[in-house]
Formats: sequence, structure tokens, C-alpha cells
Amino acid sequence: PLPRPFSRRLTIPAELAPVRREGEADVYEIEQRVGRADILDGVGTPIWGYNGTFPGPTIRSRSGRPVVVYHRNALPVPTVVHLHGGHTPAEHDGYPTDLLLPEGSAGQHPAGHGGAVTVGRRGYAYPMNQPAATLWYHDHRMDFTGPAVWRGLAGFHLVGDAEEEALPLPRGQRDLPLMIADRAFDQDGTLRYPSRSDDLLGSPGVHPPYQAGVLGDVILVNGQPWPTAEVAGTHYRLRLLNASNARRYRLRLDPAPPGALVQIGSDGGLLPGPVRHDSIDLAPAERVDVVVDFARWRPGQHVTLVNDFGEDAGTGRVMRFEVGDAVADPARVPARLSADHRTLRRADATRTRSLVFQSRDTGGAHHWLINGRPFHPERVDVAPRLGSVEIWRLVGDLHHPIHLHLSHFQVLSRGTGGPRGTDAGWKDTLDLLPGEPAEIIVPFADYPGRYVFHCHNLEHEDMMMMGNLTVG
Ligand code: C2O
Ligand code: CU
Repeated sequence: PLPRPFSRRLTIPAELAPVRREGEADVYEIEQRVGRADILDGVGTPIWGYNGTFPGPTIRSRSGRPVVVYHRNALPVPTVVHLHGGHTPAEHDGYPTDLLLPEGSAGQHPAGHGGAVTVGRRGYAYPMNQPAATLWYHDHRMDFTGPAVWRGLAGFHLVGDAEEEALPLPRGQRDLPLMIADRAFDQDGTLRYPSRSDDLLGSPGVHPPYQAGVLGDVILVNGQPWPTAEVAGTHYRLRLLNASNARRYRLRLDPAPPGALVQIGSDGGLLPGPVRHDSIDLAPAERVDVVVDFARWRPGQHVTLVNDFGEDAGTGRVMRFEVGDAVADPARVPARLSADHRTLRRADATRTRSLVFQSRDTGGAHHWLINGRPFHPERVDVAPRLGSVEIWRLVGDLHHPIHLHLSHFQVLSRGTGGPRGTDAGWKDTLDLLPGEPAEIIVPFADYPGRYVFHCHNLEHEDMMMMGNLTVG
């Protein structure tokens, strides 16, 4: 029942409208529930979705204007919502043990580890004191983030601001959020994930040989397998998000003129100026916003977004663009994008830390460790001072996409060289390469409290590659 590549139309997740205002804040309501997704031909796929859809609805908010999202949990397991890339006070950040229990389930689930537990429904309040950026929200429950996201608990949260609005960038129908995620399916159309517990309440983790990360053989964009988008011969903004559990992509348009992917934004927002790429490496959780001018292709041409890291014809392709007639459109990429971009210097930092991301094999089971230790909610791993700036020196044995909550950072170095092209701007996830140390510089501002940093390979994360980041 697998659709032929490029036979499906690209769909754009619905935008959620606020239900009311509370003081200054726009208020949204989301129900987490079981749904059915139209991914394969002739058979529905059961999913877990925000409002029952995968991806969940897109929230569009405005820098400086607070947002409260009420989540109701109508799923059979506890959940945790994290706004990835959000500069969020700790109690609303979705700490992995701050559980939202299923409706009507008081007392049935052990709280554990002193998390703040709510039954049925809770609000997550986001000040949104951060610039325009492509953020996303997803489940973050301790030990079970991988299977919960795999089942569908992920959506976009786009932030806009006045600076971005004043730029002549593509907007509206020509601003496409693209959530790229691989999945595997059973014959009956259900999602296949090698959990050690089917109900996602018992043993965490996945069976060997999947402990290095779960990969799928089908590439979905916004929940559709290898979709096609019709585009006019003009500029489009593509907000590329790698929402895969473990898969890394090297994305490239084929055929394409040199420098066809013009990067304008990164995890944390707009770059100071555009950066041209022929291809873009995207690790789990990273976002790269690019502008593509489809007037550079002939009308009628098919342009494929390919993945040079794929292992076959399925995983080597992502989606297709069908180029239409050229249209007049004032959109373009200006030479200067964000003006309020401060480059951090080594001298700004008051402390340097070393963090080693490494696995240990204990008789068949893999444990993914940071500085030799597995995650424990009650231990403080790093404790930066509020208001300070630190340099973190990261090194890993394999590919580990390293993500910090609370703060965006800048990349200082990779190996013996400087950052690579896509490291520009403010990042919240670093594509750490095997054996190659990298340095990041990170300010800890505004909100004290207990956060986490972790590997965003979700199987590594669930198998303990996470630490507490306690800002005081
Ligand atoms: Cu995208 Cu700690 O998460
Ligand atoms: Cu990892």
C-alpha cells in the first residue's frame, strides 16, 4: 500500500487559531489524542497526534506577545510538551518528568523523580521573548520520547517579528514549513517501532539492533510520503525541519544550479546575511530556512529534493517540486537580514566545560552516556550562573545532535577549523560529528531553574544521553 514516490500532494499543516486572550496572551487549546493518518494507499495509519493529526497544527506567534497553550491529554500514557527552541521559563519548558497524565487517570501513574504532575489538562505559558524563528513542539517524556514522536507527537511553532516582516522575503503560500521525518510501517499500515514495551509504560528503550537509533525506509514530508509540490517560477521560503528520530540528511536539489539553496535562517532565527549552499546537512531537530528561486528552472521541470545520505532509492529522495510559469513577485533575498545579531567572543565566556558523549555496551544493552553517566533527574550535571556566558567543548564517539534547552548558542569551532556554513547564526542543536570536537558559546539569560541538554537522536536520549542544566 506504499504510494509511488511523488504521487501525493504536499500538504501544509493547518494553522491553529487562538481561542481567546488571557491578559496579554493568545490562548490555544490542543487535545492530544489517537487519530488516523492518510499516509499509505487504501489503509489508515493509527497515530498519536496533537488534535489527532501528524504533524500537529502549526502555531504562529509573534515575538514579545505571550502565548499559552492548553494541552488536554486524551492518550493512554503520560505526556510532556516541549517547545523546541523556545526561550521558556523552567516550569513551562517540559522537563521530562513534569508529566501531564491522561484525563481521569489520577493515581494510576507513578509520579516519580519529583516532577510536577498534572492530570488531564495543563497550560504551557511561553513569553515568546525571542526573535522570528522556526520552532517546533514535541513530546518529551523521560524514556519514551522516541516512540511518542514516532507515533506523531510533533508540530511547528513559527515565530514572527517586525524585523522579519519588513524584509521582502517570500510569505503566505510561498512560505512552506517542511517537516521531514522517516518512518517504517507494518503490512497492515501501522507504524513500526521496536519498543521494548508496547504500551509505552513499561521498559524504556528499543530492542537491539536498533539502539543506535531507529530509521525508517519511507520519507515523509508533513506526514505525506515523498510528496510533490507545485511551485510557481519565483521565490519560496522552505523551512526545513529534520523531525526524524535518528536520521541525518544531506539535502540537495536535483537538478540545480550552484548555490540554489540560499540559507536565511537557522534554529534561533534569521542570519545576519544569506549563505548559499549546494547541499545542507541536517541532523535531527535542526532547522534551516532557505529561499529557493524556482525561476532558475524551466517551467515544467521536475526538481527533486534528494538526500545524499540515503541508503537506497526510498531514503535517497525526499520530495519533488513541479515548476510552473514564472510569476512577478516582489520577494527576494536582501543582502542584510537580521540586524540585531551579536557575535559572541571567547572573551565573553567566564567558564569552559568539557562534555563527552559516548556509549557503553553492557552485555547486549547500549547505554548512551554524558561524561560517563546516564541521565538522572535528581543530579545536577552543569550549573551555569544566570547571566553568564560559557564555552562548551563537546566531543562524541558517533553522530550526536546535541541540543540545549533554554538558550541558543553560537558555534566557535569544529575540529581544528572554524564552524561550517550551516552553523551560522543562533543554534539550539549542534550536528556533532564522530570524533571531531566542537566548541559552542552559550549565554544563560533571563530564566533560572532546571532544564536539560541531551542528544536529539531520540533513541540515545531515551537511553539516557541527557543531563541536567540547572541555571542559578
Ligand atoms: Cu527537541 Cu529536549 O528537545
Ligand atoms: Cu546521540
